Amino acid sequence: MGRAAGSAKLCRSFAAPTSSVANDQVGKSVPRRSSSLGARASRLVPLMSILFFSIDDAPEPWRVALTRALPGMPFHVWPDVGDPRGVRYALVWKPPVGMLKTLPNLKGILSLGAGVDHLLLDPELPRNVPIVRMVDAGYADQMSEYALYAVLHFHRRMGEYREQQTRVQWQPLEAVPVAQRTVGVMGAGVLGGDFLRKLQPLGFRTRVWSRTAKALAGVESFSGPEGLAPFLAGTQILVNFLPLTPQTRGILDAKTLALLPRGACIVNIARGAHLVEADLLAALDAGHIGGAMLDVFAQEPLPAEHPFWSHPRVVVTPHIAGQAIAELMVSQVVENIRRIERGEPPHGLVDLARGY
Ligand code: NAP
Ligand code: GLV
Repeated sequence: MGRAAGSAKLCRSFAAPTSSVANDQVGKSVPRRSSSLGARASRLVPLMSILFFSIDDAPEPWRVALTRALPGMPFHVWPDVGDPRGVRYALVWKPPVGMLKTLPNLKGILSLGAGVDHLLLDPELPRNVPIVRMVDAGYADQMSEYALYAVLHFHRRMGEYREQQTRVQWQPLEAVPVAQRTVGVMGAGVLGGDFLRKLQPLGFRTRVWSRTAKALAGVESFSGPEGLAPFLAGTQILVNFLPLTPQTRGILDAKTLALLPRGACIVNIARGAHLVEADLLAALDAGHIGGAMLDVFAQEPLPAEHPFWSHPRVVVTPHIAGQAIAELMVSQVVENIRRIERGEPPHGLVDLARGY
């Protein structure tokens, strides 16, 4: 209800002019010479619109939510762009390379994801347009739930019990006290930070590795390239929340996996390209890595012939650790459009130099 009330005010500024001016070009208003010319002009003139593209998400919940919140702003779904000059905001997940450069009057590129690697890989991305990511917007609860489940799965040796069940084997395994189990979190941002806060009451030892050092009560902090090896050396269950950047691509490879203690487990819910999959398979098969729960992959969907599907120590999920839920995200999208229209920085403005 609050959203609808606020949006009425916003939408007036997006509605096609009806009295003394017409926007013959997005962002530029011209006086009408006569009412009949004005009527003709408004037929020709593109409205300021929002363009949606996602390879994973249905547009309908977004159409419903955004046309309710922004009734004066037409909602298009690629490839039905209308007049490309009228597109003011692109709300996108993994758009085709080159798509965004065809929109000359963009004022904001809004990622449906918390990550923006899917945008930054486009060599033709218009880099002068603000690129904005989702800040939590419903991801934090889901990612933390997944990571909590994964940590408990490995801590309570559920993968091994599952394997025993396939052999009809009744065999209790040694229990490790929670206070002797160390969970290491890569990335202490919005999502990694939320997970740490929710994990701590369970009594695990916790540590984090990030670009800059953190002061989080009860969490051992490691930072920078020099902090990675000591961080890994004490991590028994590793959970990856990093953004994918040139610095983090392939960060989980044979060399770094070898730094983990024998039997350590991996939870990757960030990006497939963080992990060198062949190196993980080798480490699993050598018994150095005890198990892996993987939500993201180098190639998605994971090809049917991929060895992860049938590996007894690997749990595969189809990139669902955090799913875009329109009703939880729309207020952030609307607020960011408002901010950009007012000339203020949006929440989640991506720092192109850092890459996240
Ligand atoms: P964020 O708030 O930007 O946090 C990123 C964290 O990573 C920060 O703590 C940052 O360090 C750290 N970091 C970045 N580069 C680093 C480097 N080179 N070395 C060490 N640490 C580095 O991002 P977020 O919102 O938590 O999202 C994290 C990622 O989760 C997204 O980028 C996305 O890939 C992934 N994700 C996946 C799903 C899914 O469904 N599987 C859903 C949502 C998000 P500083 O704090 O020092 O800057
Ligand atoms: C999903 O993977 C995201 O980046 O939000």
